[in-house]
Amino acid sequence: MLNRNDKCWCGSGLKYKQCHLEFDEKLKKLKHQGCVVPTRSMIKTNKQIEGIKKSAVINKGLLDLISEHIREGMSTDEINSLAHDYTISHGGIPADLNYNGFPKSLCTSVNNVVCHGIPSKNVILKNGDIVNVDATTNLHGYYSDSSRMFEIGNVSEKAKKLIDVTKECLYKGIEAVKPWNSFLGDIGAAVQEHAENNGFSVVREFGGHGVGLKIHEDPFVPHFGRKGSGMILVPGIVFTIEPMINSGSREIYIDKDDGWTVFTTDGSLSAQWEHTLLVTETGIEIISK
Ligand code: MF3
Ligand code: CO
Ligand code: CO
Repeated sequence: MLNRNDKCWCGSGLKYKQCHLEFDEKLKKLKHQGCVVPTRSMIKTNKQIEGIKKSAVINKGLLDLISEHIREGMSTDEINSLAHDYTISHGGIPADLNYNGFPKSLCTSVNNVVCHGIPSKNVILKNGDIVNVDATTNLHGYYSDSSRMFEIGNVSEKAKKLIDVTKECLYKGIEAVKPWNSFLGDIGAAVQEHAENNGFSVVREFGGHGVGLKIHEDPFVPHFGRKGSGMILVPGIVFTIEPMINSGSREIYIDKDDGWTVFTTDGSLSAQWEHTLLVTETGIEIISK
């Protein structure tokens, strides 16, 4: 048990009473009321938040670079190289590379690939393709994670709608976050409602996640669910929202040969957008913007 005059557990160097004491008392009260509350490891310190923000500058920069260069005829391996070199030359490390054995520096997921597509010289972007590029960046041990959709040439109206609705799902999820006054389930409910109202389906096997000191941390952030359920959202939590929305059924399978690539079972299109987010005292900040 920390005393009021001890140094705070967060490493700020401040006395507990001047730092997280009030915060901890608020959480304790909520817990007594039956609320699921975050663990201390989910609450980032100011120093960690600064580090994650710097990492996110590179993460955004590499996606901006890709948006300038992506075009018909390019292989997904070229996208990988661009991002890899950009990250290294800015002092970062592409965090996906060798993560649980992943062979490349980011994920490129084309058309009916839901996520975790492996960049390849043999995947050449063609007119009408839709592509998700998803990168996680490690800068000095701090991680940021975001992804965007890209349209190659002229894409179908249906594909465009899927991309737009998926982006709206991300932002509806973000808007559902109210510090001390919302829950993980509110995010999922907002995403699911918007996707399904538009005739699309939500992938359930993968979700957002805590991020910052590792690629994937607790909590898991489902993109479906019930309002008012799950952990309460409080200042200092850093996590992603990254809805994967299918134009057909929500069923997916993982490629047996590479062990990574996730496909829609019915071959329908899938889209995804992702941001790294910080819950603040007054709202939510999009760190990867
Ligand atoms: N960036 C992905 C995410 O949003 C993680 C990819 S892990 C990899 O969670 F190994 F597939 F690269
Ligand atoms: Co990602
Ligand atoms: Co992520």
